[in-house]
Amino acid sequence: MTALEALDVVAPARLQAEGLSLGYGQHIICRDLSVRIPDGRFTAIVGPNGCGKSTLLRSLCRLMPPLAGRVCLDGKDIHRLPTRQLARQMGLLPQSSQAPSGITVVDLVARGRYPHQALFRQWSDEDAAAVSQAMAATGVAELSEQEVDQLSGGQRQRVWVAMVLAQQTPLLLLDEPTTFLDIAHQIDLLELFRALNRAADHTLVAVLHDLNQACRYADHLIVMANGGIVAEGDPATLMTVELVSEVFALDCVIIEDPVSHTPLMIPRGRSAQTHPPETPSSLWPPTLKGREHVDK
Ligand SMILES: Nc1ncnc2c1ncn2[C@@H]1O[C@H](COP(=O)(O)OP(=O)(O)O)[C@@H](O)[C@H]1O
Ligand SMILES: [Mg+2]
Repeated sequence: MTALEALDVVAPARLQAEGLSLGYGQHIICRDLSVRIPDGRFTAIVGPNGCGKSTLLRSLCRLMPPLAGRVCLDGKDIHRLPTRQLARQMGLLPQSSQAPSGITVVDLVARGRYPHQALFRQWSDEDAAAVSQAMAATGVAELSEQEVDQLSGGQRQRVWVAMVLAQQTPLLLLDEPTTFLDIAHQIDLLELFRALNRAADHTLVAVLHDLNQACRYADHLIVMANGGIVAEGDPATLMTVELVSEVFALDCVIIEDPVSHTPLMIPRGRSAQTHPPETPSSLWPPTLKGREHVDK
């Protein structure tokens, strides 16, 4: 453990939650969940469908009040913070959103500036610059006058991301930001998030489905199952064959990603229907070291 990591273990995080119980009506999803989002890092939340990732994210930005426990930003219960003050600190990209009918791209992205407006402070050059920058960064500048509901799913998703970026918050919570995007735009967006994190010291939390992208781009991984956190830490040490089997009921091989040198998970099939073990030649190219020995 480096000195910085050691410090990190004891220092309180800007955003953390203790003893959270979350649910919908009688349906309890998370019980006594505590989490600490490392400052200035890119955290990925992974886990199977329905395990509570979106529920946790919604509670972290107070869209959902906890049944027990509390979420704190800078040591204060987020439910006690004025809305505008919270919105200047934290932006959320929800898993699905509905744009007002007929709204144009530029008008939707401009809504990201709402927390920065005030009764006597009208639209400024700073607001306009934030909107243009966000649209350029997400590649939607050329769509600016189009209506959002006439865009493709991938284009629309990038417009929503632009709206959150225009908010210019130091904390960003992103629920499946790469959904609907083709692979090139997925990589563009993940690179953009990483650049924001590295250059501007933003704290990012993203729910990601692709474990390999999570390992490649995130510094910190939170693995969820059945409403709880089953593991968290550095992707390089966390991502094991056993963990993937436990959480996703998937048999896999994990090798080193030849480009990023992070774990690369290759599924073999569902744990329950395991086929006879592959020969070691499946770990092609042979220069790549398997993280787990292939069964002989
Ligand atoms: N609005 C809702 N009302 C009732 N149950 C919900 C609602 N949203 C999610 N759930 C349930 O909560 C559980 C966790 O959902 P969610 O947090 O969306 O999972 P994930 O994001 O990990 O796929 C699921 O069983 C889901 O059916
Ligand atoms: Mg979800």
